[in-house]
Amino acid sequence: MKIRNAKEGDKSHVLEFCKDTFSWGDYIADVWDTWKSKGHLYVAEQDGLVVGMYNISFFAKEAWLEGMRVRPQYRKKGLGTKMMSHAESVIQNGTVRLIIESENSPSIRLVESVGYGIEEEWRLYSTVPEKQESSAMVAKSSDGLDDLVCSSTYADSWKWLPLDSEEIGKLLRQDRIVTLTEKEKTSAVGIWNRSNDFPEIFQLGFVNGTRYGMAQIVLYAKNKARELGCQRIQIFAQEKISLEAGFLEKKSLFYLMKKELGGKNL
Ligand SMILES: CC(C)(COP(=O)(O)OP(=O)(O)OC[C@H]1O[C@@H](n2cnc3c(N)ncnc32)[C@H](O)[C@@H]1OP(=O)(O)O)[C@@H](O)C(=O)NCCC(=O)NCCS
Repeated sequence: MKIRNAKEGDKSHVLEFCKDTFSWGDYIADVWDTWKSKGHLYVAEQDGLVVGMYNISFFAKEAWLEGMRVRPQYRKKGLGTKMMSHAESVIQNGTVRLIIESENSPSIRLVESVGYGIEEEWRLYSTVPEKQESSAMVAKSSDGLDDLVCSSTYADSWKWLPLDSEEIGKLLRQDRIVTLTEKEKTSAVGIWNRSNDFPEIFQLGFVNGTRYGMAQIVLYAKNKARELGCQRIQIFAQEKISLEAGFLEKKSLFYLMKKELGGKNL
């Protein structure tokens, strides 16, 4: 078995076994070209056949592992473990994260067996774009955000990025932080994104605050998603945050998994 950089000709072979990975299908077809252009998309080859794939995204200080797939007939033979170890040899050191749906036990078993631990539980909610009134507004500074941004990461189109003051500065400049002010105090915050790979989806990748404040942030998202012509809204909130609103559909639970390479593990 050989693991190598993906080539253009691999795409059709990979997509052939990545059509129905999950009950809802798969997203590899939407991201293959973007991932390949960044240079860290890998495939596993055995007997002249492409039997696995995965991608690494590098951020300034961290790495993100995604899209690990093994051709169904080749599973449970150690290929996933070999791709995880290949990823570590490429990344070498620093923080590595990945996200797994809580019911995907083969995948959880695989990453736990190579030393990853659960860092945080995130809940996915969904709703639809709609014209709505909301008092939430685009934030112009980080004043009042410290207590509300109680997370070391936020979701940016299915990648969890480090949420430090530098990142918050970048998000403010991009008008992607929305806040609600109640009685002259910031009472809720949300961070939104819309990815080129999934233009039909508007995503809130972090939300926290008072119950009323978070509902206002979600109403802002409904309006903004409609303005941008999106068809669906996904909201990720940490499981410990109780995001409740009649118009939200509660979906799956996800585990954000983490490992420190060349250092201390969780
Ligand atoms: C998850 C996936 C990549 C694992 O690949 P794999 O090549 O089968 O993994 P391995 O053979 O290296 O298995 C590694 C460990 O995972 C566990 N495991 C793998 N498949 C399992 C299964 N179906 N049930 C229970 N445990 C399983 C085993 O504990 C195994 O350890 P062992 O060698 O001590 O038995 C593969 O099942 C797959 O492609 N699934 C669909 C796509 C997916 O869910 N990707 C991850 C999304 S986050």
